[in-house]
Amino acid sequence: MTKAIRIHETGGPDVLRWEDIEVGNPGPGQVLLQQRACGLNYIDVYVRSGLYPAGDLPAVLGMEAVGVVDTLGEGVSGLAPGDRVAYPMTLGAYTQARVIDADRLVRVPDSISDETAAAMMLKGLTAHYLLFRTYPVQPGDSILVYAAAGGVGLLLCQWANLLGANVIGCVGSEAKAQLARDNGCHHTILYRDEDIPTRVREITAGEGVAAAYDSIGRATFAASLDSLRPFGVLATYGNASGPTEPFDPKILAGKGSLYVTRPTLATHISTRALLDEGAQRLFEVVGSGKVRVSVNQTLPLADCAEAHRQLEARETTGSTVLKI
Ligand SMILES: NC(=O)c1ccc[n+]([C@@H]2O[C@H](COP(=O)([O-])OP(=O)(O)OC[C@H]3O[C@@H](n4cnc5c(N)ncnc54)[C@H](OP(=O)(O)O)[C@@H]3O)[C@@H](O)[C@H]2O)c1
Repeated sequence: MTKAIRIHETGGPDVLRWEDIEVGNPGPGQVLLQQRACGLNYIDVYVRSGLYPAGDLPAVLGMEAVGVVDTLGEGVSGLAPGDRVAYPMTLGAYTQARVIDADRLVRVPDSISDETAAAMMLKGLTAHYLLFRTYPVQPGDSILVYAAAGGVGLLLCQWANLLGANVIGCVGSEAKAQLARDNGCHHTILYRDEDIPTRVREITAGEGVAAAYDSIGRATFAASLDSLRPFGVLATYGNASGPTEPFDPKILAGKGSLYVTRPTLATHISTRALLDEGAQRLFEVVGSGKVRVSVNQTLPLADCAEAHRQLEARETTGSTVLKI
């Protein structure tokens, strides 16, 4: 029997149940994967709570994992049993084994451990598209990164620093501020106490930032707009504090002809070419050691509810990995 974390209803962490499931055989274009570790992502909280759809219930949650190819379905080429692979953004990851479309899988280089692979695919590909596609960061740009000591945040800080940006990070505590600075963040704002736009203007000599990468949503939307320089870009890419409210686009004119976008990784890996481009850049930068993946919490997959509780309580830093 295969064990998995499923929900039968949406709600708090207690709806996550460790139970037996049927996995089945791979159909055409699919593979059976024996999984080794899953990444924990904030999107898992949105699906568990009902903010994002889980599809038919009961449903296995989780969006990313690393594992080994077991059996190939009809017509699968380019993969063989025994290959070590990982995937981001494919619901049904919290399980010991699963059937998955082969075209969602990326082969993991030998230099990258199972734990690192599970921690980096979804978060790293997100950092990649935000910095290279949503607002392509230029050397000398000041940028604002929210939850700078979090999973996506630590990767954004390091990678943006590498690209020559002046990185300003919003963090929830002094300890997180230190961690963000140790990971390439030049300035930190304790946004539970400090006014974000005021601090941003102080740090940038009144100019504002070229881009704000805002994963907090409702609580920080207005502060992000007020922190931008003319023609600046707000990438509102998450809802840790709840979804943003509707707004009148006219306000963007008065604040300096601003841009607002609501991107998702789903679009940025929707073709094989997009997925491969992001994965190649990510494996290169992590393989070179220039961007480090911090796995700061490791729990057994069976203890997934506790991992969710910690993430929502803002107790975690870096990535959390659920071992199988
Ligand atoms: N659109 C996309 O393509 C995409 C892809 C991946 C991730 N995301 C988003 O990116 C964000 C980061 O994801 P992650 O998995 O790396 O999580 P994370 O940043 O490690 O954890 C969330 C962090 O958000 C901060 N936060 C601020 N207000 C919060 C609140 N009311 N409740 C809980 N946390 C709050 C906390 O850091 P502080 O204590 O420092 O404030 C917390 O540690 C999430 O919003 C996620 O949805 C979006």
